[in-house]
Amino acid sequence: MSELLLEVKSVSKCFKEGNVETQVLKDVDLQVFKGEQLAIVGTSGSGKSTLLHIMGTLDCPTSGSVMMLGEDLYRLSARRQSEIRNQDLGFIYQFHHLLPEFSALENVVMPALIQGRDRNMAEAEAKALLERVGLGHRLTHTPAEMSGGERQRTAIARALINKPKLVLADEPTGNLDASSGEAVYELIQELANQLGTAFVVVTHDTKLAARMDRQLQMKDGYLQVDDPVNVTGKAS
Ligand SMILES: Nc1ncnc2c1ncn2[C@@H]1O[C@H](COP(=O)(O)OP(=O)(O)OP(=O)(O)O)[C@@H](O)[C@H]1O
Ligand SMILES: [Mg+2]
Repeated sequence: MSELLLEVKSVSKCFKEGNVETQVLKDVDLQVFKGEQLAIVGTSGSGKSTLLHIMGTLDCPTSGSVMMLGEDLYRLSARRQSEIRNQDLGFIYQFHHLLPEFSALENVVMPALIQGRDRNMAEAEAKALLERVGLGHRLTHTPAEMSGGERQRTAIARALINKPKLVLADEPTGNLDASSGEAVYELIQELANQLGTAFVVVTHDTKLAARMDRQLQMKDGYLQVDDPVNVTGKAS
């Protein structure tokens, strides 16, 4: 039995704006194990990003809890939460969220410097990661000087620099052509195998989803095991 890394327990999320209440997540339960690759699929607006944000301490649940390695994430101090975000979690946002005034290399190296790692070593690692996602020739470019896919690949490298235990990826291949998407998939495989990194990947890319260990579907606020027909386009 592999080690339980993160557990979402009966999480509900309701957004209130004036008199309007939107129930986005309803009693969602989810367990993520060390080194596993999990795909979450579902139609636009079904709550995938909301769930991923709650798993990554970027938004709080209305009710329920999220446990990571024995710690109840929403009962921790803001300081401990940000430590976990920096050390144990890697987040790849749906819209990259790179710092606009910094180069690709600086953006990737930043989480390592926050952790207090040696600058030269961190830069060498950041460079290697950027090369790995095909951006060795864009190290000094700022986000405004990069294409959408290049920004996304920079954001992927940034999420991986501190070798997190869990990577939460929101549409990591959304802006990528087939070969860049393949490079990202191979990087996921390598990290899962070598470091035991777990991945939760929200994606509309049915091919990518089908290659993960498990597929779940977000529907009407509930998370359910995905019907393979929806994932691969053919019955299994
Ligand atoms: N801050 C907010 N305030 C109010 N409603 C919100 C907020 N954030 C998200 N929602 C609503 O919650 C629902 C789920 O949004 P979410 O971003 O989680 O969807 P998604 O599954 O990631 O969609 P997509 O595939 O388009 O990225 C949407 O109907 C959205 O309008
Ligand atoms: Mg989304």
